Amino acid sequence: MRLEGRRALVTGGAGGIGAATCRRLAAEGAAVAVTDLDLDGAREVATEIGGGAYELDVRSTDSIHAAVGAAESDLGPLDVLVNNAGYDEFGFFVNTDEAMWDRVLAVNLRGVIAVTHAVLPAMQERGSGRVVNVASEAGRLGSPGSGVYSAAKAGVIGLTKAVAGESARYGVTCNAVAPGPIETPLLMSAPEQFAEVGERVVQNMIAKTVLRRLGQPEEVAAVIAFLASDDASYMTGQTLGVSGGMGMI
Ligand SMILES: NC(=O)c1ccc[n+]([C@@H]2O[C@H](COP(=O)([O-])OP(=O)(O)OC[C@H]3O[C@@H](n4cnc5c(N)ncnc54)[C@H](O)[C@@H]3O)[C@@H](O)[C@H]2O)c1
Repeated sequence: MRLEGRRALVTGGAGGIGAATCRRLAAEGAAVAVTDLDLDGAREVATEIGGGAYELDVRSTDSIHAAVGAAESDLGPLDVLVNNAGYDEFGFFVNTDEAMWDRVLAVNLRGVIAVTHAVLPAMQERGSGRVVNVASEAGRLGSPGSGVYSAAKAGVIGLTKAVAGESARYGVTCNAVAPGPIETPLLMSAPEQFAEVGERVVQNMIAKTVLRRLGQPEEVAAVIAFLASDDASYMTGQTLGVSGGMGMI
């Protein structure tokens, strides 16, 4: 029960890593605001864990402020923010266009910036808080078939360090996780979308891990819960690989 009495908001909490994170934070004692574009999905998770469900589209500042305001008035001031919502369109970079760049950057980079901007000031004022960003090994290694996504995730790692540096004096830490290939709807849609490579896209990612398997959302959630807890009190600005050893190859 490391998170007893803490209030957490998770973006993209309806599915995959986000849902596993909501379950894990709640199991460790936190009151959780499950937010997502998909309100029905968020409600399902919230019902299961006894948290609140809120519609939050990370691409819209209005939506962010409405959801953060509602969550804070229901649960109280937020102690933990998990920027998890993410999205990709797989394919070779040469086949992308401006509209695709905007869609992918809007969720994976601008979305993290906007939600953090909405939540951080109150944490700094209160003198405590934990921000955990879900980046990706794609942001450190570059993932073929995910060029714009890789750029966005590298941006999240940069933001993590800058926010950590600015927030330290206020007792707020900011860290990131960099998952490798995790068995979620996002990854499992890759073979269909990335028709040129098909099934090999996932097999190629597995081959880059040392553990030679896909990870499970719960294995990422466990590290996010650690970074959200007091056990990580002397860590900030870090990006932890949760990727079966992918980053060391
Ligand atoms: N699955 C992987 O292999 C993998 C690897 C590295 C990083 N990640 C990252 O982990 C995070 C979670 O991904 P996942 O694999 O669980 O994906 P997922 O598709 O299973 O879940 C993503 C969730 O985000 C929500 N979402 C999408 N767009 C949104 C928006 N505009 N506003 C709010 N919510 C939105 C979706 O509705 C969904 O519930 C993402 O940031 C992703 O980039 C995933």
